[in-house]
Amino acid sequence: MCGIVAYVGNQTARGILLEGLKRLEYRGYDSSGIAILNGASAYLVKSVGKVEALEQRVSQEGPEGVAGIAHTRWATHGKPTEANAHPHTDCSGRFFLVHNGIIENYLALRKRLSSSGHAFRSETDTEVLAHLIESHYSGDLEAAVRQALMGVQGTFGIAVMHSAHPNQIIVARRGSPIVLGVGKDESLAASDVTALAKHTEQVVYLEDNEVARLEPGQFWITTLDNRAVRREATVLEGGPEAIDRGPFPHFMLKEIFEQPEAVENALRGRLNHAEGVAKLGGLESVLDPLRQARHLIIISCGTSYYAGLYARYVFETLTDLTVETELASEFRYRKLNLRQNTVVLAISQSGETADTLAALREAKRKGALVLGLVNVVGSTIARETHAGVYSHAGIEIGVASTKSFVSQLTILILMALLLGRGRDLSFEEGESILRDLEKIPEQIREVLEQSDRIHELATRYCQAQHFLYIGRKYQYAIALEGALKLKEIAYIHSEGYAAGEMKHGPIALIDPSFPTLALAPEHGSYDKVVSNIQEIRAREGRIIAVTSWGNTRLAPLVDDLIEVPHTRGLLAPLLTVVPLQLFAYHCAVLRGCDVDKPRNLAKSVTVE
Ligand code: AGP
Repeated sequence: MCGIVAYVGNQTARGILLEGLKRLEYRGYDSSGIAILNGASAYLVKSVGKVEALEQRVSQEGPEGVAGIAHTRWATHGKPTEANAHPHTDCSGRFFLVHNGIIENYLALRKRLSSSGHAFRSETDTEVLAHLIESHYSGDLEAAVRQALMGVQGTFGIAVMHSAHPNQIIVARRGSPIVLGVGKDESLAASDVTALAKHTEQVVYLEDNEVARLEPGQFWITTLDNRAVRREATVLEGGPEAIDRGPFPHFMLKEIFEQPEAVENALRGRLNHAEGVAKLGGLESVLDPLRQARHLIIISCGTSYYAGLYARYVFETLTDLTVETELASEFRYRKLNLRQNTVVLAISQSGETADTLAALREAKRKGALVLGLVNVVGSTIARETHAGVYSHAGIEIGVASTKSFVSQLTILILMALLLGRGRDLSFEEGESILRDLEKIPEQIREVLEQSDRIHELATRYCQAQHFLYIGRKYQYAIALEGALKLKEIAYIHSEGYAAGEMKHGPIALIDPSFPTLALAPEHGSYDKVVSNIQEIRAREGRIIAVTSWGNTRLAPLVDDLIEVPHTRGLLAPLLTVVPLQLFAYHCAVLRGCDVDKPRNLAKSVTVE
């Protein structure tokens, strides 16, 4: 899951490309490169490490030229070296290509091309594309790209240039996202809108197996088998300010503090108090089949999977549906026998996660009604599901998901409310949940005021090598999410566990060096969690507990207490997750980790 950006127009390309790369860096950041055409002469530079290393070189050399392509890499084939960094070229050095995705039949293609004399310089799968296009080229760059891609298996988002066509860039996609930016006398393309927002509001999303030829201010889309495609531009949501860090030291902290607005955005125009129900425009076209539905399967990955796990309890509480929550990367390999009236819900922040995409395609193939809950407008999952809801959390740059998670939970409650009110959920129950939901943004603000206190807490725990997170029912998913945050940004080995499972094994790990964070808001299973806390205490484990405001009963049993405002059990995860995000954030900063670009990760996982 790399980031690619392309520009052809009348401005000097280098600044626009480097700026675009920095905006895409959360997609992968182990090496990068740029190629710029200035008439028939070409400039190519690649470097290992973050984009700023490339920027230093390019700024010193100041290449001129109004057309170029650039790439920031998340290595799949071949280590992060200069030779393996993109752009890749062909034998003549006249073709330049950047790629996001995986070429599955690259070994066979490489063998065939080598035997016909092509010389390879890298270990990557991508380089075969440059040589393949070269082998098909006879003066028409677009035709050569089309013919080459006909023989390719796997996924790609590519941008290609040739020094004989300084005013032209060819882009194409299958499985990896490409969005075009249409400007006055200039055209851009990128892996996602964050690299375009500063230059245009008009964007066009390429579909799978489409090719686009970009020239200054113009573009032409065709299919791989050369049929012309007409596509209207869509207007981008949220301008360039949406992608600025503002006064915050990290995007992750900015996005944690944007959660009250994220919940307000998720609720805006969707609460029908008169009928005690939610109004979700994106589901209106499928309300009838939703009423008939008997089974709900939720598919997703990572943090979105934990939102699905939470949702299982919510749908079971508010509706009479049977609910399964599945890891998308496993779901797609199961021998599925989807029962009649099964609805499948795909949850994804980016809307581009390859495993979730493949799983939803499998569910569609099996005839299920497939819905989406997605944050990125116009993303592939949004376009491939039958219907769905946008979470409107705004652009999320920090690799560790925070505000998108809280807005997912909010929308999932609204979805369950909508389905529940169509069944046996009463007006009173529906209305009281809506009222409690409306209090959440202000209650999150109260929790955020504890950031400094949680920082102090982190100073005393951030050197721990291991951490256990425990919770029950709705809080089980939050325990998993809290552990994931500490893992992915502070690199502390942490495990989330259903509190009831502790005594079936994990309690063996407990000793004074292995702290536990226990989620114990005063609801349903509170007493059970308190017994688990006492079991840990008995083995001298250190304990941080998250509980409801004013609950003094717990203080004598734990080392540290974090209190959150009172709300009903079903909504409490919207509050209890916030201190866990802040705790992981402060631990990561104290350990000197790169919070926004944690090692080995990427924001959108577009390869399997
Ligand atoms: C979470 O912080 C991670 N970024 C990762 O687990 C993420 O949730 C997962 O890759 C799913 O991404 P999606 O929501 O964009 O599909």
